[in-house]
Amino acid sequence: MTHTLNLFDIEQHALQVLSSNAREYYLGGAADEITLRANVSAFQHIFLRPRILADVAERSLQTSVLEQSWTMPIGIAPTAMQKLAHPEGEHATLKAAQKLGVPMICSTTATVAIEDLMHAQKGANTWFQVYVYKDREATRELVQRARDAGCTAIVLTADTPYLGKREREARSGFHLPPDMELPNYRGLGIGAMNVSEGKEASGLAQHFSQNIDPALCWSDIDWLAAQTALPLVVKGVLRADDAIMAWKHGAKGVIVSNHGGRQLDTAIPSIHALPAITDAVGEVIDVMLDGGIRRGTDVLKALALGAKAVFLGRPVLYGLAWQGEQGVERVLEIVREEFDLAMALCGIKSVKDIHPDILALPHQH
Ligand SMILES: Cc1cc2nc3c(=O)[nH]c(=O)nc-3n(C[C@H](O)[C@H](O)[C@H](O)COP(=O)(O)O)c2cc1C
Repeated sequence: MTHTLNLFDIEQHALQVLSSNAREYYLGGAADEITLRANVSAFQHIFLRPRILADVAERSLQTSVLEQSWTMPIGIAPTAMQKLAHPEGEHATLKAAQKLGVPMICSTTATVAIEDLMHAQKGANTWFQVYVYKDREATRELVQRARDAGCTAIVLTADTPYLGKREREARSGFHLPPDMELPNYRGLGIGAMNVSEGKEASGLAQHFSQNIDPALCWSDIDWLAAQTALPLVVKGVLRADDAIMAWKHGAKGVIVSNHGGRQLDTAIPSIHALPAITDAVGEVIDVMLDGGIRRGTDVLKALALGAKAVFLGRPVLYGLAWQGEQGVERVLEIVREEFDLAMALCGIKSVKDIHPDILALPHQH
């Protein structure tokens, strides 16, 4: 019998149904995929010190991030091209997110236009992820469109001056199928449609090197923050000094992330990077994290180290590939149930009561 008990089961289901083109793109990381694996294993090496007899009969997962209310501290990370997983693509993901009361970060490289997505799912909490293009006007226009469409935050992915060395993509000749497009690029005059069969590098790498501005620096963050009244979140932060710079240049939040191990291989696992960053800016802006979250206990550990919330990348794509909207719902429900149980078993009633003392640091064993 095939069980669906956890996110690893759903990953296995998804790997059965994904095309090899999508599979290699989704599951791959950069170079030797050391960071990709370490993101997951780092959580497995952190142990908990549960408290007993704490009356955990009633619990609340409710939380607040960027002054928004979420039903739990778990959101959906931006991942490109979701129609590769399922014909409904981003629509299915957003429906599931809305049903569970959590936000979805929509990628610029989505296979659904942000206006269509928001129109179909009124009232959904959607953040929009952007890159800064060499063509600043195109960037400004995208930010404006996201605001007009009803998005509630802008996420700048800052770890991608160039695309990482993704050898799986190159080997599999990753391409966007001819019947799919990246409609957020429509009318912007940037070479969006070049995401097709590459040779030595994937088509995606070529697209990035043609359009993304590798000269981006902190003064551009001031510029970007000034383009919109929406809160700006900087994604891809792995150092406390960068987190402080993000705050000083107008970001209201940072996402501690190594892009799911897809950019710089051997970059620090996100959970290892988190404590220094929450120490530095946790009091002044919202610190979030993605990378390697596969269990409810992972969520608990990230929150104990000061994160306000975490985001899921690949698990959502796997749920989507497996069963569309229902698959994504199932992923979110499983993590919610596991997180809730982990809190109960640690003697914690509410998200605000999660403190570092539940972690077994080496000297406490
Ligand atoms: C297939 C795929 C596509 C992605 N596309 C984007 C993207 O368009 N923009 C972005 O900022 N991050 C992108 N990411 C990175 C995720 O937002 C996130 O950082 C990462 O997946 C989290 O790690 P996890 O997959 O272990 O949960 C992508 C990740 C994957 C796996």
